[in-house]
Amino acid sequence: MSMTRGEGSLFDFDKMDLSQEPPQAEPARQYYFMAKCRKWVENFKQENGRIPTSCVTTFGCQMNARDSEKLRGILREIGYAEGTEDEADFVIYNTCTVRENANTRVYGRLGQLKPRKKKNPHMMIGLCGCMMQELEVVEKLKKSYRFVDIIFGTHNIYKFAELLSTRLESERMVIDIWRDTDKIVENLPNQRKYGFKSGVNIMFGCNNFCSYCIVPYVRGRERSRDPQAIVEEIKRLTADGVSEVMLLGQNVNSYGKTLDTPMTFAGLLQEIEKIDGLYRIRFMTSHPKDLSDELIEVMGNSKKICKHLHLPVQSGSTDILTKMNRRYTKEQYLGLVERIRKAVPDISLTTDIIVGFPGETEADFEETLDVVRRVQYDSAFTFIYSKRTGTPAAVMENQVPKEVIKNRFDRLLKEVQSIAAKACAVHEGTVQEVLVEDICGHDPKMVTGRLSNNLLVHFYGGKELIGAYVDVLLKECRGFYYIGEMKGTAL
Ligand code: SAH
Ligand code: SF4
Ligand code: F3S
Repeated sequence: MSMTRGEGSLFDFDKMDLSQEPPQAEPARQYYFMAKCRKWVENFKQENGRIPTSCVTTFGCQMNARDSEKLRGILREIGYAEGTEDEADFVIYNTCTVRENANTRVYGRLGQLKPRKKKNPHMMIGLCGCMMQELEVVEKLKKSYRFVDIIFGTHNIYKFAELLSTRLESERMVIDIWRDTDKIVENLPNQRKYGFKSGVNIMFGCNNFCSYCIVPYVRGRERSRDPQAIVEEIKRLTADGVSEVMLLGQNVNSYGKTLDTPMTFAGLLQEIEKIDGLYRIRFMTSHPKDLSDELIEVMGNSKKICKHLHLPVQSGSTDILTKMNRRYTKEQYLGLVERIRKAVPDISLTTDIIVGFPGETEADFEETLDVVRRVQYDSAFTFIYSKRTGTPAAVMENQVPKEVIKNRFDRLLKEVQSIAAKACAVHEGTVQEVLVEDICGHDPKMVTGRLSNNLLVHFYGGKELIGAYVDVLLKECRGFYYIGEMKGTAL
C-alpha cells in the first residue's frame, strides 16, 4: 500500500478488482479510479520508457493552494512524477477569479501552452478552480480553447481521478461543473508542500455576499467540516512531522454554525490546542463582524495560537462599508482592534483594503487612511477594486475613474509601507522563537524562518534546521523582514 505524507490512502490498489463496477460510496469510488489511472500510467511507462510528469499551478488564495495539494496527492497516487510547468506532460491550472487580473493571467498562460501540446502528443491540460464556476468562462473555453482536456470546478475537486479516467478512455474534452454542493468528501490523498506545516480546511464556501465579491458565487454555500474530522486530520499531520497548522476558511469566525451540533470557532480552537506535538496554530480569514469576545479570550490564553491576526477592513468609511455589505462600522472595527490589542498586546495585525469601490469619495478614502494610521498594521494587502460580473457592486452607479483610483492607491501604499516598516522594527534586538522554513532565496548559506507574528527572519544556518524551532536574535529590521543570528535550538 502506498502511503502519502501522513494523509494516507486508505485503500490497497493491488487488491482492487477493476473488472467490477466502480463503488458508489466516496472516497472508495475515487480510489477505484486512481487504480484505473495507475494502469494507464504503467502502460505509459512501458511504451515511453519514462514516468509521465504533472504540474499543478495555483493562481489563488490559500484555499486554492490547499486544493492544489489535494490534486497533487491524487496525481502521486496515480503514479505521476512531479515536473515543472514548462515540461510536464499534464499541466493543471487551479484558477482564481477574485479580481479580473487573476482571470486574464490564466488566458495568457493557456495561450502559451497551446503550441507545446502540438509538439508533445502525450500532453494534457486541466483547468479547475473558481474561474471554472463562471458560465461565460466555460463557454469561452469550449469555443476558443478546444485543446483543453479536462475542466472541473470547486465543488467536485475530489472527483479528479474519475474525470481523468474518463478523459483517458474517451479522448474527448471532459467538462464537469456543479452549481453547488452540500457534500464534503474526507480521506483523500494529499501532497503537502512542506513537511512541517500544513493548511487544514475547516470550512468551505461563503455566505457573506460582500457586494464586490465573487467568492460566494464560485465557492457555494458555507459548510463546516465535522470537528472530529478536523482534529483527526491534525493528529495524523502531527504524527507525520507537522508542528504548525493554518486553519482555512473564507470566514473562520462563523465556523460551526451550520453543523448538526453547532460549535464555535473558539471552541474548535480549544480542541485543537489539546493536540500533542502541535506547536503553532494559525487561521485565516477572520471577518470582523463575527469575531467574538470568546475568541479574543481564547487567543489571549492560548500557548499555541500565533500572535498574528489577519483582519480585513476593506474600507475605513462606514458609508462604503455599508454599501459593501460588510456589516460593521468604522467605530466597531476600531473597537474590536482595541479589545484584541488589550487581550494580546504583542499581536501583529494585518489587513486587506480595497481602493475605488463604487461611490468612494475623497472623504471616504481619507477615512481608510485614518484607520490605517490608527491601527498601525504590520502589513496590508491593497487592491484596486475590480468589477466582477454578477455581483451587486458591478451595477452600482458612480464607478470611480481609473486615474482617481490610481492616485488613491499610490497614496495608500506609501502610508501602509511606512507604517509597516515602523511596526515591524519594534522587535529589533529581541530574541524570538522561529520556525525554520527553507533555505534563503537570496543567500544559500542562510535559512528563512517565521516568527509567531508571521514576520520572516533570515539568518546563517544550514538545511538541517528546516522544520526546527530556533531562538534567533533579531539584529536588523529591513522593512518586512529581519536579519537575525541564531542563539539556540528551542525544539
Ligand atoms: N474571505 C476573505 C477574503 C477573500 S478574498 C475576507 O472576507 O476577508 C481576499 C481579498 O480580496 C478580500 O479581502 C478583498 O480585499 C479582495 N477582493 C475581493 N473581491 C475583490 C474585488 N472585486 N476587487 C478588489 N479586491 C477584491
Ligand atoms: Fe468575499 Fe466577503 Fe465572503 Fe470574504 S467574506 S469571501 S470578501 S463575500
Ligand atoms: Fe480566488 Fe477562489 Fe480563493 S476566487 S481568492 S481562489 S476562493
